[in-house]
Amino acid sequence: MYWDEAYKGTPPWDVGHPQPAFQALIKGGEIKPGRDLDIGCGRGENAIMLAMSGFEVTGIDLIEDAISDAKAKAIERHVKVSFVAGDVLQMDRLFMEGEFDIVIDAGLFHVMTDDERPVFVRQVHRVLKAGGKYFMLCFSDKEPEGYGPRRVSKAEIERTFTPLFNIIYIKDAAFDSRLGPGSRKAYLLSAIRS
Ligand SMILES: C[S@@+](CC[C@H](N)C(=O)[O-])C[C@H]1O[C@@H](n2cnc3c(N)ncnc32)[C@H](O)[C@@H]1O
Repeated sequence: MYWDEAYKGTPPWDVGHPQPAFQALIKGGEIKPGRDLDIGCGRGENAIMLAMSGFEVTGIDLIEDAISDAKAKAIERHVKVSFVAGDVLQMDRLFMEGEFDIVIDAGLFHVMTDDERPVFVRQVHRVLKAGGKYFMLCFSDKEPEGYGPRRVSKAEIERTFTPLFNIIYIKDAAFDSRLGPGSRKAYLLSAIRS
């Protein structure tokens, strides 16, 4: 599988630090203390950053090796995070309804296929409390076509999430990647579970 292979080395998204777009959300008070879930957490940098900011954090990723690395990193940094191997499309097997105040997503939604997107949205909706928030960073259609996941338009984000979420904003943002800081154009979504 692509993801298994990717984690045998250092994939392009694995920058070894949290995404600045999420750090800014904490600094700006948009991500407030509570129970947070990082979906597609990879090797855990964003989840660990949230935990270091005082939040109660769970991270989930499909790939066992990424989860083992994330667990080791959290121990090394003396921070408590619950890292779980599992499929975001089957979170109803793992988490209770309304278990989290916040879900963050750095680069997971944009790898979902058209068929997976509605399932994904229902699963994220289910794990959030009423009024809970979803923050998502995905490749934007302003990023030139080429290497990487498919680009996502604002209209697609709106279409996919509006049935179950109220969109607060979709902002131009950037991903740090191994090509450099802010090297990939992104959209940052803030949405509230309706
Ligand atoms: C682009 S990477 C981003 C990783 C991490 N958020 C980061 O910023 O380093 C996407 C991640 O989603 C994970 N993933 C893909 N499909 C998944 C699924 N169905 N359930 C859980 N994780 C998944 C991959 O294993 C990978 O770690």
